[in-house]
Amino acid sequence: MQLSVIDKVFLLGALVARVTATPTSSSGISVSVNPRVQFQEVDGFGASQAFQRAEDIFGKYGLPAVNQSLVLDLLYNENVGAGFTILRNGIGSSNTSNSNLMNSIEPKNPGGSNATPEYVWDHYNSGQFPLAEQAYSRGLHTLYANAWSAPGYMKTNNDENNGGYLCGVANEPCASGNWMQAYANYLVQYARFYKESGVTVTHLGFLNEPQFAATYAGMLSNGTQAAEFIRVLAKTVKKSGLDVKITCCDGIGWDDQEAMMAGLNAGPDPAINYLDVVTGHGYDSAPSYPLSTNKKTWQSEWADLSGGYTPYDFYKNGGPGEGLTWANHIQVALRDAGVSGFLYWIGAENSTTNSGLINLINNEVIPSKRFWSFAQFSRFVRPGARRIEAASTYANLTVSSFKNKDGRLATQLINQGDSTIEANVRIAGLKSGVWVKPYITNNEFNLEPLTAVVSKNGGAFQANVPARSMVTYVSV
Ligand SMILES: *[C@@H]1O[C@H](CO)[C@@H](O)[C@H](O)[C@H]1NC(C)=O
Ligand SMILES: *[C@@H]1O[C@H](CO)[C@@H](O)[C@H](O)[C@H]1NC(C)=O
Ligand SMILES: *[C@@H]1O[C@H](CO)[C@@H](O)[C@H](O)[C@H]1NC(C)=O
Ligand SMILES: *[C@@H]1O[C@H](CO)[C@@H](O)[C@H](O)[C@H]1NC(C)=O
Ligand SMILES: *[C@@H]1O[C@H](CO)[C@@H](O)[C@H](O)[C@H]1NC(C)=O
Repeated sequence: MQLSVIDKVFLLGALVARVTATPTSSSGISVSVNPRVQFQEVDGFGASQAFQRAEDIFGKYGLPAVNQSLVLDLLYNENVGAGFTILRNGIGSSNTSNSNLMNSIEPKNPGGSNATPEYVWDHYNSGQFPLAEQAYSRGLHTLYANAWSAPGYMKTNNDENNGGYLCGVANEPCASGNWMQAYANYLVQYARFYKESGVTVTHLGFLNEPQFAATYAGMLSNGTQAAEFIRVLAKTVKKSGLDVKITCCDGIGWDDQEAMMAGLNAGPDPAINYLDVVTGHGYDSAPSYPLSTNKKTWQSEWADLSGGYTPYDFYKNGGPGEGLTWANHIQVALRDAGVSGFLYWIGAENSTTNSGLINLINNEVIPSKRFWSFAQFSRFVRPGARRIEAASTYANLTVSSFKNKDGRLATQLINQGDSTIEANVRIAGLKSGVWVKPYITNNEFNLEPLTAVVSKNGGAFQANVPARSMVTYVSV
């Protein structure tokens, strides 16, 4: 392959960012990648800006306009930042926009489950509507609209908070009637408002962490109850003519979601048949095995909620908010759980904790090392990519690899240990003379290009991964 102008520019840039670690002598460690053995399709990576975090980006706390654009570019522009392609919106159930509440499109009880609803649409949606527009204009593919709860008047406890069930699911009757159809209509109306305003909702979910009666918006459900509602929602979506895919159930942890699979898979008319994606979170139990389904799965929310603030540590002591910790969570979920999507909780927010990927503090934009770990995957593993077979002969050098729709390969090598690793990488079918471009994140660098290498016969090249570092090798 000829050296293009872009490659030359790239090489010049790369001189600036040479790795400082001294390479060890040839180690005998090898990595093999086989693009002919393919696994799950990737939908993408992302986060949420629910509970008014979208408004943080738009200056709720005074973030200057120039830094509002910077955050949007870091999140959604693949040439500047992570190039996230999935945004998870919260479908609000609140009757106000006070504090960080998400206002509902049906704030008032229409007077009964069969009464005509009074929908309201403010083209703002707690900042999430303009955010979705900005994200799509930068390359978003997937807008996942997810309700934490139905409005309180549709629930057994008459409250959007503190658990409660959707009126009408098994064993949960209400004096006010069966609200399943009304809730399905309401969710579809949310997608319709977006569509009529020029923004496509691609996926629709109706539960969040249904194992847990939170003091904030939430709703309880087991797998059987979720399945009953999915059948109603699927009919309603079909009738609406909207092209919206249905997800379930955003269980708190991967084990919680697995526990719901029996209910989704059961019966003469299994609800799983109406789902496109099964969603589960990573709290309590991490995605380290495939859920019991042939459908796509997403790890749709997870974060370090310990309250710590470690934006600058890729590796310090393996703490829950460090970049290396999240590089590993993502790699394990993709490789061992076979997920097609991986989302952090918040993308950017005004806080000094690890619950977001980017901290907005006063006027400043502070991308964490976690953010760059996400970007090591998301910038190079694009929607439609397939995970491909990849193996390493050394336990402290972990590997994953993907083939993009355009043929571009992205291989992630993570050095878990405290000395530099040199490895012989061989990619089956890779021609000789192909430029392979490495990008590194560690304590020193953020997604920094390194000197490109050229493949030899048999698609082989030498990889040099410094201690406690992640390097993504991108080849065409
Ligand atoms: C934004 O966050 C910073 C850091 O936590 C805090 O000092 C500041 O008060 C916040 N801004 C507002 C308006 O709350
Ligand atoms: C609004 O919602 C809150 C919390 O669910 C509830 O306590 C309150 O009664 C509601 N107000 C109105 C006017 O419906
Ligand atoms: C879910 O709850 C309903 C109502 O309590 C019960 O009938 C059903 O057996 C439960 N399903 C599962 C899978 O636990
Ligand atoms: C924007 O954020 C950067 C840090 O990312 C900071 O250096 C800069 O001062 C901020 N710009 C303004 C106008 O406050
Ligand atoms: C792997 O990395 C860990 C953590 O740095 C280290 O303790 C261990 O010695 C390494 N294993 C080998 C075989 O080098």
